[in-house]
Amino acid sequence: MLKKLAGAIREYKLPSILAPLTVAVEVVAECLIPFITAQLINAIETGSGMPTVLKYGFGLLGMALLSLTFGILAGYFCSVASCGFAKNLRHDLFYKIGTFSFSNIDSFSTSSLVTRLTTDVSNVQQAYMMLVRTAIRCPFMLVFAFVMSIRLGGPIALVFAGVLPLLAFGLFAIIHHVMPLFRRLFKKYDKLNESVQENVAGMRVVKSFVREDHEREKFGAASDELCRNFTHAEKILALNDPIMRLCMNISMLLLSYLSARIIIGNFVPDDPTSMGVGNFTGMITYSMQVLMSMMMVSMVFVMVTMAIESAHRITEVLSTESDLKNPENPLYTLADGRIEFEGVSFRYAATAANPALQNVNLSIASGETVGIIGGTGSSKSTLISLISRLYDASEGMVRVGGEDVRAYDLDTLRNGVSVVLQKNLLFSGTIKENLRWGDPNATDEELEHACRLACAHDFVSAFPDGYDTYIEQGGTKVSGGQKQRLCIARALLKKPKILILDDSTSAVDTHTDAMIRRAMREEIPNTTKIIIAQRVASVQDADRIVVLDGGRIESCGTHEELLVSSPIYREVFESQTRAGGDD
Ligand SMILES: Nc1ncnc2c1ncn2[C@@H]1O[C@H](COP(=O)(O)OP(=O)(O)O)[C@@H](O)[C@H]1O
Ligand SMILES: [Mg+2]
Repeated sequence: MLKKLAGAIREYKLPSILAPLTVAVEVVAECLIPFITAQLINAIETGSGMPTVLKYGFGLLGMALLSLTFGILAGYFCSVASCGFAKNLRHDLFYKIGTFSFSNIDSFSTSSLVTRLTTDVSNVQQAYMMLVRTAIRCPFMLVFAFVMSIRLGGPIALVFAGVLPLLAFGLFAIIHHVMPLFRRLFKKYDKLNESVQENVAGMRVVKSFVREDHEREKFGAASDELCRNFTHAEKILALNDPIMRLCMNISMLLLSYLSARIIIGNFVPDDPTSMGVGNFTGMITYSMQVLMSMMMVSMVFVMVTMAIESAHRITEVLSTESDLKNPENPLYTLADGRIEFEGVSFRYAATAANPALQNVNLSIASGETVGIIGGTGSSKSTLISLISRLYDASEGMVRVGGEDVRAYDLDTLRNGVSVVLQKNLLFSGTIKENLRWGDPNATDEELEHACRLACAHDFVSAFPDGYDTYIEQGGTKVSGGQKQRLCIARALLKKPKILILDDSTSAVDTHTDAMIRRAMREEIPNTTKIIIAQRVASVQDADRIVVLDGGRIESCGTHEELLVSSPIYREVFESQTRAGGDD
């Protein structure tokens, strides 16, 4: 895990090293201050001359300035190192998620990936900053201050040794209890983010169904639960402070008591084993430093406890390999638009009770137009997602252009197979930019031509800015039907060998729908076309129509054949024509 994370330090190695070094200088200066102070007080107490006092005074000032300067530098290097580290970590995560297959994303869930990329990275960043700052500081301070207080106070300083086990035990108990709590906490974070993501993305739907109250309750519940869990964890963590203070006060009390007895009893000015007020003051300051650094260590422990869980979740993503991999010697050309399904079965998860597809056999010739019809959940979308290898078949084989889809270079395959997904999306940017996703080098004429085919040209040119019209994220500026047509145009620009429209004209009026189909028949006759539709009218002039039912092919044939052979098809057709249908 550490190795994976450390990989993200990269160009920030120098500040990561400079930070603890500057901290070291800061700490040395800081540690010398009480020592010099002790000398100063001793000098005053024993009535040494002004020059000696001045010498120690300037020494003190110098140390303070040194500690200040290096403190500032340390802060700067720490920030640079930790922010850079977090930046690289986010970058790595984002890159990794980009390589994920659909099933990888399904298994993590989108909201969990978002949490990992944001909250978890911040946690690790903070812990890293703390570690860089304290890795040298605390142990150094602890040892140095301890040694100095023994020098100043002799065996009395050993009081610390008695307090340490108490402290260590308290800390261990706290962390032992808190660790599992944090593990649960992050799952709750995922839930909260899911609720936020769904609601912000689907605000229009929520509002139009007047579901704000319900959604507010759902969010409130997730948020309350998070709060409760956090409070619980923090309550335990908060014990850290009183335990710390208890130890601190016990040792102060003991130190003061023991020192006072010595000072009152037998103070001999020139005897190094004897103790003066100066030594005493110095020792108290050092013991403060010892205890402070212990406190800091315990804080770092707590922080690291939290961050380990986050780090775990981050490395989980980083070490997941996409389960769709390019083959060793991939094919870089698609011969033609033939498609064959041979005994194909598919499950979304190995543990899923029912297969989404069962023993599908289907052969589609290059240039053929095939309609697919079936109720919702009959696996129409699943079937076509195997063609562009969004998922791999669990059993059987899918062939495109006569070759197994797994033999192709993924990019080649997906460029050859253009899918207008059911849940299509436009991205923020101009219409032109969105269209060029299909072909970055398309000329304006080509864009216009594709839009004419998809019946989008007329409404696009009616916008004041035409093809330069800016579309907000998710395409809220255009109507559903307009968005569908832009998505079809975008798919056409890829000049694919196979074009798949998954319910892509559902929001388009029937007349336009017919025009789009005619344009495709006439303009791209050699492209294999698969049209998934709810309306019989959208598929009835296809060469063949496949009727899907519960993940199996119920029947397959032309419109006329199916009216005779398929009860499902007949029923759908009759219900749509009887009701006046869409036509
Ligand atoms: N990403 C997914 N993970 C798990 N199950 C899924 C996923 N997508 C679809 N399914 C399930 O597979 C079945 C077929 O879905 P789908 O192919 O979308 O149907 P259709 O497009 O015909 O409406 C449904 O039962 C659905 O719940
Ligand atoms: Mg579907």
